[in-house]
Amino acid sequence: MRILLGVTGGIAAYKVALVLRHLTESGHDVRVVPTAASLKFVGRATWEALSGHPAPTETFEDVPSVQHVRLGQRADVVVVAPATADFLAQMAAGRATDLLGNALLATEAPVLVCPAMHTEMWRNAATQASVRTLRDRGVTVLEPAVGRLTGPDSGPGRLPEPEDIVAAIEALADEAHVPEASSGTWGDLDGRRVVVTAGGTHEPIDAVRYLGNRSTGMQGLAIAEAARERGAQVTLIAANVALPVGEGIARVNVETAAELQREVESAAGGADAVVMAAAVADFRPARAAATKLKKTGDAGLTLELVQNPDILAGLVASRAPGQVIVGFAAETGDENGSVLEHGAAKARRKGADLLAVNVVGQGRGFGTVDNHVTVLGADGGVVADASGSKLGVAHALLDTIAERLG
Ligand code: CTP
Repeated sequence: MRILLGVTGGIAAYKVALVLRHLTESGHDVRVVPTAASLKFVGRATWEALSGHPAPTETFEDVPSVQHVRLGQRADVVVVAPATADFLAQMAAGRATDLLGNALLATEAPVLVCPAMHTEMWRNAATQASVRTLRDRGVTVLEPAVGRLTGPDSGPGRLPEPEDIVAAIEALADEAHVPEASSGTWGDLDGRRVVVTAGGTHEPIDAVRYLGNRSTGMQGLAIAEAARERGAQVTLIAANVALPVGEGIARVNVETAAELQREVESAAGGADAVVMAAAVADFRPARAAATKLKKTGDAGLTLELVQNPDILAGLVASRAPGQVIVGFAAETGDENGSVLEHGAAKARRKGADLLAVNVVGQGRGFGTVDNHVTVLGADGGVVADASGSKLGVAHALLDTIAERLG
């Protein structure tokens, strides 16, 4: 599982190093987000060495990867241990004071909070009110253990033993049905090269007109950004995409299918995965007039169209061993078959390793913020199903790609 471990500023932070150790030994991939105060108890180096990842504290570290949102979005489970009285109050108030506060607001994953403090602070009405608020919101708050505290005093307020915290995390994951397939890691595309095409091609009719389609490129951009965030080196081939792309992505702008074909074929050599999210025109005008076409009297205009090459088919035919080729199919369904039937036939016909079938039309798909995608294998069988934000769908698709890449 991808676990986000928040550490706040209490002396019990030292025990959490053992929690982290147990989790990584059980095969989980853990990202630690310590608060600034917690670093007075356990230094960043400990968290980074034990987790194998950077342990950022502030919202403004590594801004290009938008990690204040992504860490929360991608976590399978979020744990805060130890949680101080102050942090419980901050969380109950929904404050985004630092990176951990932001990540907690951005997550839809189950959250486990492990308070640790002196008995008086635990029993304080303010702390108990925070705990009630959090529980009402569905957060699992572990009861602190009873026993010796930091000074000579004892009572409820001790951080439970590391093994008990690990057991609570696993129980919560089970209860929340975190999928088995979530063996996913935070940087599962580290060192991989991923090429993504996005947008829609424009096929010129004359000097000012073209044949185009309604693709905005949003889904392709989301895939490029999600792949980068997972550690891949990403080349984005953008066909008429008006949107900016995050830093760290090599962007090549193209207009026509012919230009897109040239660029994607050159980038595909040495790529681990190629995702053809662009809407490529199947036809282009046989001739593009160099100047603007003029009306002649009342006569209509007949355009002669010729077929564009099937770029995806070309990539499949020349793919290197182990390379994963992914196609997209925007389908509406018709009297000859449902969206998925058309998708399965296309998956078998195209021979790509994966085909992401996207339902379009009636206000869905193009330009809309949310998306629904079913991922099919080369045999037309369903491999995954994802709906939600374009970024969420992008990550679900990348889960299947990362799995194929092993
Ligand atoms: N595609 C391509 N080259 C083309 C047309 C499409 O590489 N000339 C790619 C798209 O980028 C997408 C996939 O093929 O990944 C499917 O595109 P789609 O337009 O749905 O399929 P078509 O091959 O055009 O099939 P049909 O016209 O039968 O729906």
